[in-house]
Amino acid sequence: MSTKRIHLIAAARPNFMKVAPLYHALSGESWCTVEIVHTGQHYDPNMSDAFFRDLRLPAPHFHLEVGSGTHAEQTGRTMMAYEKVCFEHRPDWIVVVGDVNATAACAMVGAKLCIPVVHLEAGLRSRDRTMPEEINRLVTDAIADVLWTPSHDADANLRAEGVPEEKIECVGNIMIDSFEMMREQIAAAGTRERLGLAGKPYAVVTLHRPSNVDHRDKLAELVGELVRVSRDLQILFAVHPRTRRRLEEFGLLDQLTGAPGVLLSEPLGYVDFMNLVSGCTIVITDSGGVQEETTYLGIPCATLRENTERPVTITEGTNRLLKPHEIVDAARRAAAGEWPKGRRPDLWDGRTALRAAESLRRRSGIERGERDLQSAGAGATH
Ligand code: UD1
Ligand code: UDP
Repeated sequence: MSTKRIHLIAAARPNFMKVAPLYHALSGESWCTVEIVHTGQHYDPNMSDAFFRDLRLPAPHFHLEVGSGTHAEQTGRTMMAYEKVCFEHRPDWIVVVGDVNATAACAMVGAKLCIPVVHLEAGLRSRDRTMPEEINRLVTDAIADVLWTPSHDADANLRAEGVPEEKIECVGNIMIDSFEMMREQIAAAGTRERLGLAGKPYAVVTLHRPSNVDHRDKLAELVGELVRVSRDLQILFAVHPRTRRRLEEFGLLDQLTGAPGVLLSEPLGYVDFMNLVSGCTIVITDSGGVQEETTYLGIPCATLRENTERPVTITEGTNRLLKPHEIVDAARRAAAGEWPKGRRPDLWDGRTALRAAESLRRRSGIERGERDLQSAGAGATH
């Protein structure tokens, strides 16, 4: 039996949490060799290296050093660099995750070289094509060979688009595997104590969507509302590099640094960030992944967006889409314990990576032997 070579593509912060559980599950299997390809879209130590450390990943096997740029620059550079890797080290499977530029770019490279592509987190739709991620999702799902979905609403989206049934597999939400894998470290991180937040009510804030931070008026409105929230509830705002650049450019940073109830931080590592989320009163965000993590933990989440590609976080979870002027009241309701409790969606159980690894093995035509069963058990990290 020849060993199957699997590439896991990671580019930006939310990708590392999606790749890590699958890397750990597959690296325990004898039928495959698994390699991480980092495209380099995120490169600051606190947007990249910190996650390799926190999630116990090895250094990437390939680093494409694509860096920042326009959408076309990033997509094009990723395709050119990854195509070279594929020419030299032809993988048997390419696994792309999430909805960033590298997801679509590497899926296109694979599809054109007739290398099977799997999309982990397939089928999500915001139906908002002004969102760059929605374009990446549509392109990727149209050309991928296997579509691993996180929830049943995503299966329905794919069926409605005419995707053949045999391509769709609901494996569950892999972000939850990362949380479960790191649960003890997260609980023991002491981040709340270090930041003086232990035992106090506080809100965690993250913002980075271009629709919120790239326009002066919109960002100014959001900053004003956050300062109002901070008069009732201490805020910890972990500032994304895109957002920091815009706050500086628009002259809005002083309003935040001058507000006594606002604590600004650099982007945090995964363990520190989840320690803060686990103990907070409410999260105010526009992140995709954070909507899911808060639903899993039953923490109130106010999402500053018009729509979400993750509707189960609303229909089943603790997420609500809000306008900027609604967050002061939302924070009060969360502090008063008046937020709907929600429940965990089906298959958000910390076992998604095992289901995904099993799917790849089966689709590779490999029989499961006794040895593989044992090594899969040993490789599992939760
Ligand atoms: C990207 C993804 C988005 C994802 C987000 C997660 C796309 C289209 N966007 O958005 O889906 O939600 O990552 O965080 O793929 N920068 C740094 N250091 C870094 C990385 C970025 O300073 O390590 C700055 C640069 O000024 C850069 C800007 O942030 O131009 C935006 O980075 P980019 O990766 O283009 O988009 P994100 O907003 O991070
Ligand atoms: N996250 C983190 N540190 C932070 C902010 C977020 O570790 O300062 C984690 C968060 O827990 C989640 C992921 O980053 O796992 C979400 O990434 P991001 O919001 O950048 O992207 P999105 O999910 O919106 O694509």
